Amino acid sequence: MSNPEPQRTATRARARKAVIPAAGLGTRFAPATKAVPKELLPVVDVPALEFIVAEAAREGLDDVLIITARGKDAIEAHFDAAPDVENALEKKGDAGRLARVRRSTDLARLHYTRQREARGLGDAVAHAEGFAGNEPFAVLLGDDIIDERDVLLGKMLDVQAEKGGIVVGLIEVEGRAISLYGSIKPAGEVVDGVIPIETLIEKPKPEEALSNLAVIGRYVLPPEIFGALRRTELGKRGELELTDAMRTLGQDGVPIHGVVFSGRRYDTGDRQDYLRAVVRLAVEHPELGDDFSTWLVDFVRTIEATGGTDQ
Ligand code: G1P
Repeated sequence: MSNPEPQRTATRARARKAVIPAAGLGTRFAPATKAVPKELLPVVDVPALEFIVAEAAREGLDDVLIITARGKDAIEAHFDAAPDVENALEKKGDAGRLARVRRSTDLARLHYTRQREARGLGDAVAHAEGFAGNEPFAVLLGDDIIDERDVLLGKMLDVQAEKGGIVVGLIEVEGRAISLYGSIKPAGEVVDGVIPIETLIEKPKPEEALSNLAVIGRYVLPPEIFGALRRTELGKRGELELTDAMRTLGQDGVPIHGVVFSGRRYDTGDRQDYLRAVVRLAVEHPELGDDFSTWLVDFVRTIEATGGTDQ
């Protein structure tokens, strides 16, 4: 008689390191991104990337590797001390803003490496091999801001610690939108927001989608991903796709799970969504929110009344 399968418990430790790929050219936002990295475009008064680093730090991922590229030096500058700005604010007695300027310097232990060529997300992640060592690690894409009041990454880290393997963040999308994302084939039902995944493909045509569940920019990956990336060929768009390497690992028997997210997410790489993110966060901003909301309500009334923007 064979022994019954032992009950799986949280025997592994949660991942402790985060990797943030920030090497993309940001062509969707050109010309704004000719000289300014897209990751530093402000969402009200904080660069998008600071939200991402703050999210990692909140989840106890204190070591953060940012993968940069040529033309992205301003990223390091943003997370460095800024004595001139700090002195000026100190002289003015603006303690609030001074604290906000210093926040980015103290968020996490930041490390940087450069991707030489724009060879895709998989290639960017491959640059993290030395940093990650033999431990699982999180990957947070700079375009996706997850509202800090909603939980995603923390749950993903817990699921990975419990079940091992790969964990991806998922959202439900409608219609043709799936062709902008990785698409997953479920291997079972969603239970407590977690779904087992059979396989996944990158940016399918809508008619080839495996489900309406799309991979968003949060991953927890095992160190085996680096070997899989080495075995992965370039994808349709001539880039090394992280999705393809994850599929390879799945075929090797590594478990893949998704955490389905239905909270607030802002894709700041998309101009429409970026504008929505700015407006939403401006409305909620502790200093600006009240006045801005009053103006916004008035402005919307004007649009409704005139069908245009004659203000
Ligand atoms: C990347 C991934 C894709 C994922 C998406 C989430 O695509 O390749 O699988 O769904 O991020 O934002 P990108 O947006 O870099 O083209």
